[in-house]
Amino acid sequence: MRRDAALFLWKWIQAPTRIGSVWPSGRALGRAMAAELDLSLPGAIVELGAGTGPVTATLLQSGVPPDRFYAIERDPALAATLRKHLPEVRVIEGDAGDLPALMRAAGVERVAAVVSCLPLVSLPRALVRRVIEGSFEILHPDGCFVQFTYGAVSPIPLRHFHLQARRVRRVWRNMPPAAVWRYSRVPGEPVARDRG
Ligand SMILES: C[S@@+](CC[C@H](N)C(=O)[O-])C[C@H]1O[C@@H](n2cnc3c(N)ncnc32)[C@H](O)[C@@H]1O
Repeated sequence: MRRDAALFLWKWIQAPTRIGSVWPSGRALGRAMAAELDLSLPGAIVELGAGTGPVTATLLQSGVPPDRFYAIERDPALAATLRKHLPEVRVIEGDAGDLPALMRAAGVERVAAVVSCLPLVSLPRALVRRVIEGSFEILHPDGCFVQFTYGAVSPIPLRHFHLQARRVRRVWRNMPPAAVWRYSRVPGEPVARDRG
């Protein structure tokens, strides 16, 4: 675990806006995200930005079936570490901005929930748009997009998206403390608001 933390810190030094955090998340945060999932919906559960896998491990411990689960990670060294620690997990090394294509290539047409650990507030706006639109393109109509943030406001800019958004939990036992947000479709509305 110490080696994971050192690798993570090294990655943050190399690309702070892409990694978004100095330390891997703690279990309490993983549990808070897992609590938002409705596993009775059909389809896969997908984690975006899995890193070295602390949230991944907690999702599995919380009952997410490994045969319905996919972890997406763009960084090759982090993806390799994740594969080593959790060989039962299907790790897809790729860009979360290409989610529908990545999932189709894996034979998945429908997703029940997306658990995002991406640092949305520091990623380029065009990438955030691709992540959100791509996720809702393949999400079940009643599915949710769960995201954590260290900030005080919604990490998805709601002026750009029609989404029902709720801060569902605060997790003080994380370094740094975090909040979990849950997003779902507004019935009858397209997810994208404009091209601003
Ligand atoms: C805040 S870290 C979270 C890591 C881990 N899930 C945790 O909670 O400790 C964000 C992760 O997102 C990954 N990431 C950033 N941009 C990405 C992208 N476009 N596609 C896939 N992964 C990405 C980073 O490499 C990093 O592992």
